[in-house]
Amino acid sequence: MAYELKSARYLAAEILRAVLAPGDRAIDATMGNGHDTALLCSLVGPEGRVYAFDVQPAALEATRRRLAEEGLAGQAELFLLGHEHMREAVGEPVKAIVFNLGWLPGGDHRITTRTETTLPAIQQALALLMPMGVLVICVYPGHPEGEREQEMVTRLLSRLSPREYNVLMQQFLNAGAGAPLCFAVQKQRGSEPRA
Ligand SMILES: C[S@@+](CC[C@H](N)C(=O)[O-])C[C@H]1O[C@@H](n2cnc3c(N)ncnc32)[C@H](O)[C@@H]1O
Repeated sequence: MAYELKSARYLAAEILRAVLAPGDRAIDATMGNGHDTALLCSLVGPEGRVYAFDVQPAALEATRRRLAEEGLAGQAELFLLGHEHMREAVGEPVKAIVFNLGWLPGGDHRITTRTETTLPAIQQALALLMPMGVLVICVYPGHPEGEREQEMVTRLLSRLSPREYNVLMQQFLNAGAGAPLCFAVQKQRGSEPRA
């Protein structure tokens, strides 16, 4: 079959599939309807652990239901808590972390991720990553807060030391200014986690 270039969401999932193995630890920083949490749980298996965060009870409920239906609830720990508190909540280094920014699909568009909390959360995520671990972030600049997130996340990640991190940015350049982006950050071998 012909290879197709992947959009931000697909690339993020592809990277997570390549990085995670049974027994690993991972974080879903924006649980939403639980698609990413379920993917992480299936990749780390029953011996692994997935920590997932959201500020909306509806997101927790949707995720809890999805995990139960798919038989994946045993390896997940769900927090009704902002991701800007992840370092207090997760006491161990992790292999992969995913942020899918924006609002809950089908939910209230006023409850969206915000630059003020997204940036400290990304800093904490970087500290929690194991060497060779990967952080993936999908950003949707098609709305004003998403546009700010794109600008500030780009600024933060482009300043990371290349001795400590490799940083990738993917976007379809001819799809208009609001096209989603996928950032992928890999901690270099020899850079220690600060969990
Ligand atoms: C695009 S959705 C995530 C979709 C989800 N990953 C999925 O697979 O269905 C973004 C989510 O981020 C949540 N959110 C907003 N602010 C947050 C914060 N400070 N900490 C954690 N989650 C937050 C929203 O409530 C929303 O559910």
